[in-house]
Amino acid sequence: MPRARVGILISGRGSNMAALIEATRDPACPYEVVLIISNVADADGLAFAAAEGIPQFAHSHVGLTKAEFEALIDGALRDAGVDYVALAGFMRVLSPDFVARWDGRIVNIHPSLLPLYRGLDTHQRALDAGDTRHGASVHLVTAALDGGPVLAQAEVPILEGDDAEALARRVLIEEHMLYPAALAELIRSRGA
Ligand code: GAR
Repeated sequence: MPRARVGILISGRGSNMAALIEATRDPACPYEVVLIISNVADADGLAFAAAEGIPQFAHSHVGLTKAEFEALIDGALRDAGVDYVALAGFMRVLSPDFVARWDGRIVNIHPSLLPLYRGLDTHQRALDAGDTRHGASVHLVTAALDGGPVLAQAEVPILEGDDAEALARRVLIEEHMLYPAALAELIRSRGA
């Protein structure tokens, strides 16, 4: 079966992007990564993508309306023949229009056990709430922020003495395993 074509949207470090790319080295991986898009021209993740020889499209959203910016992204994804869009630390909220155009084909990873802690500062919020467990979720993107159906989750315990940084580090290790597995599972279950 041909591999599904995945485009990844990033804004920064890109470690989840790297994990998604690394997973494609397994011949059984049902997807390939064909495009990296960043709204930040010097995002760290772009250097990794360049070293891997993956085409990239970097364009700032600053000075554009959301509709103008999303038209650029949509065009780049369509030109690259993308089947699925993976958000990996992409820090712009997509409009309902954009989400509808890619209905059921956008996934995101979020650093909390959704539906807990949508939005930002998830690690600190879990600590402040006195939670004993935390983690990450991969979900389908809908118009509701961090609100689409959850595809997979990974849990970590919150340990005595954890601060947000230590907890984030531990969750991130799980994210790097969770995201490629959940995306592969979604694509296998649906086909490209
Ligand atoms: C990850 O922890 C990801 O779950 C989170 O940003 C980080 C990006 O790191 N995403 C969100 O908070 C989205 N709401 P990365 O650039 O190294 O993948």
